[in-house]
Amino acid sequence: MTAVDEIKIGGLGASRKRVEDQRFIRGKGNYTDDIVLPGMLHMEILRSPLAHARIVSIDTSRAWQIPGVHLVLTGEMMATRNLAWMPTLSYDTQAVLATDKVRFQGQEVACVIADDPYIAKDACEAIDVEYEPLPPIVNPEQALADGAPVIRDDKEGQDSNVIYNWEVGDAAGTERAFAEADTISRLRLHYPRSHPSPIECCGSIADFNRATSKLTVYMTTQAPHIIRAAVALVAELPEHMIRIISPDIGGGFGNKVPVYPGYVCSILASILLERPVKWIEDKTGNLISTGFARDIYLDGELALRNDGKILGVRMHVDSDHGAFFSDAQPSKFKIGLLHSAFACYNIPAGRITARGTYTNKAPGGVAYRCSFRVTEAMFFQERMIQAAAQDLGMDQAAFRRINLVSDDQFPFRTPFGFLTDSGQYGKCLDVGLRAVGYEDFRKQQAEAKARGRLLGLGISTMTEPLGAGNSREYDILGIKMFDSADLKVHMTGKAILRTGAKTQGQGHETTWAQIVAHELGIPAEDVVVEEGDTDTAPFGMGTYASRSTPVAGAAVAMVSRKIRAKARKLAAHLLEVSEEDVEWELGRFYVRSAPDRGVTIQECAMAAYSNMPDGMEPGLENTAYYDPPNLTWPFAVYIVTVEVDPETGVWDVLNMVAVDDCGVRINPMIVEGQIMGGLTEAYAMANMQFITFDAEGNCVGSNYMDYLLPTAWETPGYELHSEVVTPSPHHPIGAKGIGECAAVGGPAAFVNAVMDAIADTGVRNIDMPLLPDRVWEAITKRHDVSGAPPVRSDD
Ligand code: CDP
Repeated sequence: MTAVDEIKIGGLGASRKRVEDQRFIRGKGNYTDDIVLPGMLHMEILRSPLAHARIVSIDTSRAWQIPGVHLVLTGEMMATRNLAWMPTLSYDTQAVLATDKVRFQGQEVACVIADDPYIAKDACEAIDVEYEPLPPIVNPEQALADGAPVIRDDKEGQDSNVIYNWEVGDAAGTERAFAEADTISRLRLHYPRSHPSPIECCGSIADFNRATSKLTVYMTTQAPHIIRAAVALVAELPEHMIRIISPDIGGGFGNKVPVYPGYVCSILASILLERPVKWIEDKTGNLISTGFARDIYLDGELALRNDGKILGVRMHVDSDHGAFFSDAQPSKFKIGLLHSAFACYNIPAGRITARGTYTNKAPGGVAYRCSFRVTEAMFFQERMIQAAAQDLGMDQAAFRRINLVSDDQFPFRTPFGFLTDSGQYGKCLDVGLRAVGYEDFRKQQAEAKARGRLLGLGISTMTEPLGAGNSREYDILGIKMFDSADLKVHMTGKAILRTGAKTQGQGHETTWAQIVAHELGIPAEDVVVEEGDTDTAPFGMGTYASRSTPVAGAAVAMVSRKIRAKARKLAAHLLEVSEEDVEWELGRFYVRSAPDRGVTIQECAMAAYSNMPDGMEPGLENTAYYDPPNLTWPFAVYIVTVEVDPETGVWDVLNMVAVDDCGVRINPMIVEGQIMGGLTEAYAMANMQFITFDAEGNCVGSNYMDYLLPTAWETPGYELHSEVVTPSPHHPIGAKGIGECAAVGGPAAFVNAVMDAIADTGVRNIDMPLLPDRVWEAITKRHDVSGAPPVRSDD
């Protein structure tokens, strides 16, 4: 006998078909809204039509009279149970149901629980709320202006709209770098609000059983254990009596990490009524009130030597958080991991100052397919890099090559203190430039220009910190960021694996089994993967920030190794040799001196239940908690070529090349799917996804007629390259995260390409999305085009 063939059993590197798709493509998924419980009632939320107003009165009497209504909840009623406000994951407070004021359009004001959702909706319309309008604030400039109304006047001692001032870096060293610079390149940018917009909206079914005192909540959450802790703290229920079940999730992208008022209200309603209560958000409710991302302004400066060397970087950012500071991110970092900016460049000194403000908008700042503000960091970085190269009159690729960290510099301390683990940045850039035909394109571009056509090429080179924790630095509300895996190998060698992560379409059910196959030689098809039930899954921090592979995936490898260690003892017993004489090859232990004498992992599993040595605990199962020593640092080069129509401002993608190095790829097909999805989101952000606010604080883009998501029709084709592989030196199987890279690094490539095409106009920036009218305005008026709110609501 010899080792099993790893690819045949679906181990590392196998492009195994996604097992979850068996049910998804047959319409057999089990989403929160599919669940029906006996006696279940339905909840609807009444939302504020105004962005800022004092509540004069709320009269619910007409709603109570509607047949089929069981309960009408208001902030006043919540307050009697100390539930009108809840803590956020960023140490702020957030209104569950408004009591004193409404602070954004779409804020939750009251809830109705009724026999069906239609009665509940009608009853919401029968609630009479009298508002006294207040001046709305829709950007940080207005929030910081003298005499601006204080949005959070509920907070003691809060006499302005500033949430925090935060800084990182070396102030003195940066000053010196700027004093020594030949040239200083400056850029002001706004990364607009965007919305993750998963297909499935948020929702929950709370089911409180008075007889057992147990609360079960089915809900759309990316982090079930964090929700359980939050419910225990907010509702003051004992943790062991709370079971959070996150069934199939129709996309998350960060939108399903925060705790939303709807969850809290459905739980309270179920406790009061002692019946299951279902709340499912509608699309507009999801778009205007949950999980916005970005909305951040940059003043960026690079200190440059004329030979192209970057000496220092200075960034000031103003972040618009909306009415409540509820970013779901490691608590210590007010502005997430924005300070990962310039991590792939060798820059001696840098400083970031960050200021957060309240505005009359829904809470923002979720990590929309990124590792906590890394999307903003990489976008700013790559836009600043392009502007700096232009200011120096240098070639884009050559300028990057001078400043990228070289292979022999790892582990590399970044300008803002991270330690990047590994990479081959120059090689990735070479692959990308060759693939896009860089030199030829530049010639074509010059020829086209002579005929009045505008061609452009944009590059984005970036590394991203993926996999929070380590627990030394990363915690959420004091809970350390690690993750877990629990593996039970049954008597017949089939297994069940559970982790503290939670897939939302990324394919964990497929890839985790591949790691077990790689470590134990058990075919992937013999391993079933379960996530999302706090009663059965080991404690974990959930899935966001592409942390699953770096942390939970590592835990899967580690728990498999624990199982292998016990299986080795069983093998020695079965082979009647000492453990030291036993060797391992994939799927099999054998006697070193007689390789033909061996036992399979399946035979060891059987022995664990039927023939274990004296004194050995029966069974073959274990749990591993993994606290990563560092983040993983994938690297990517994205290069786009475009043609801009000078008559209309419309731009088309001619070619897009993506070179991603995410270390060892568990499932190359799934990795490619992740990259394509991320590039499509990047394209959407750069080209069409437009959700903003008018001067009254009305959300513009609150439906899919206005907020355009790309379909297969608009989406360009991509050329993906996988030839550069730099295994993470500290991850047990050398894998780095990939889920977000393309959404993080992609937008700058598209914008840089359009800016390159219109470089002759002298325009330095057009804010995303680069809608045709903005591009046309830039070309014809030859000035920068800002996208910051307020916009005219008839735009
Ligand atoms: O945390 P999340 O699952 O969103 O992101 P991820 O860890 O980057 O993984 C996304 C998907 O790609 C998962 O199914 C991973 O197992 C898979 N993946 C892979 O096959 N190889 C890698 N090196 C990284 C991720």
